[in-house]
Amino acid sequence: MKILVLNGPNLNLLGVREPSLYGRRDSAALEGYCRGVAAECGAEVEMRQTNHEGVLVDWIQQSAGAFDAIVLNAAAYTHTSVAILDAIKAVGARVVEVHLTEPKEREPFRRVSYVGMAAEKTFSGKGFDSYGEAIRHLCGKAAD
Ligand code: DQA
Repeated sequence: MKILVLNGPNLNLLGVREPSLYGRRDSAALEGYCRGVAAECGAEVEMRQTNHEGVLVDWIQQSAGAFDAIVLNAAAYTHTSVAILDAIKAVGARVVEVHLTEPKEREPFRRVSYVGMAAEKTFSGKGFDSYGEAIRHLCGKAAD
């Protein structure tokens, strides 16, 4: 199974960005963690990050035929982007939504998730383990 892990805006600043919320480990550590979980499941991951909404749309469109599924942390675009929702639906991508924090327990504007309207499942509030659970879910090795 080939899994594309996509991270949206400000997730390049993991480790320095609001560490009380997002932790002190950086995006290289997250990539290593995801590779480790994927290897345990016999899957492959490619991880990408962008601060740009349209780039996420492009990557979702291009994933069709190249990846079996996407683990998507669209970050702030989760709560605003109809374009990302439409891209997921347009190519019929298999998407699992992830968040490091639990957006529903934060500010009211984080309660809406456009990504969640097209995602088959959401894992949130568990830091890096949200990604681990998403990868295991996609590999059919989830505890859920
Ligand atoms: C986030 C939650 C979003 O609300 C926020 O805008 C982010 C990160 C998370 O991983 O917890 O940038 O997606």
